Amino acid sequence: MPVTENWKPTIVAFCCNWCSYAGADLAGSSRLAYPADVKIIKVPCSCRVNPMFVLRAFEKGADGVILCGCHPGDCHYSTGNYYARRRMTLLFSMLDYLGIEDGRTRVEWVSAAEGVKFSETMNSFVETVRALGPSVRLGDLRCKN
Ligand code: FES
Repeated sequence: MPVTENWKPTIVAFCCNWCSYAGADLAGSSRLAYPADVKIIKVPCSCRVNPMFVLRAFEKGADGVILCGCHPGDCHYSTGNYYARRRMTLLFSMLDYLGIEDGRTRVEWVSAAEGVKFSETMNSFVETVRALGPSVRLGDLRCKN
């Protein structure tokens, strides 16, 4: 697919309910800008994100997937983000092996008080993905009607 100047990547952001989603909320209420192409999916905890969710997002046309959770030690469920971090480390290395560039996936810890960090993270992630162009790697798995 040729990349035009106006091309906007589709970004899926999984955000845990207790910190990152509240951080996104704070960014919004503080009128901090981040691209509208970021589609936020609220999850109870970052560990709720099954690796299949990430694969499914890429299969359905996401150009980048980011997982945001509470800082290590601050998870509402004590250790959920440690599980998520380990799981995503393995998944992202496998995705890299499959040809989905490293820059298309990211894990970030954003607390409820870090609206600025949320906004900056999303802006930098979108820029990274925009530089990589459209993700077509898992497009081969999509059903073609
Ligand atoms: Fe936020 Fe677990 S509740 S990462």
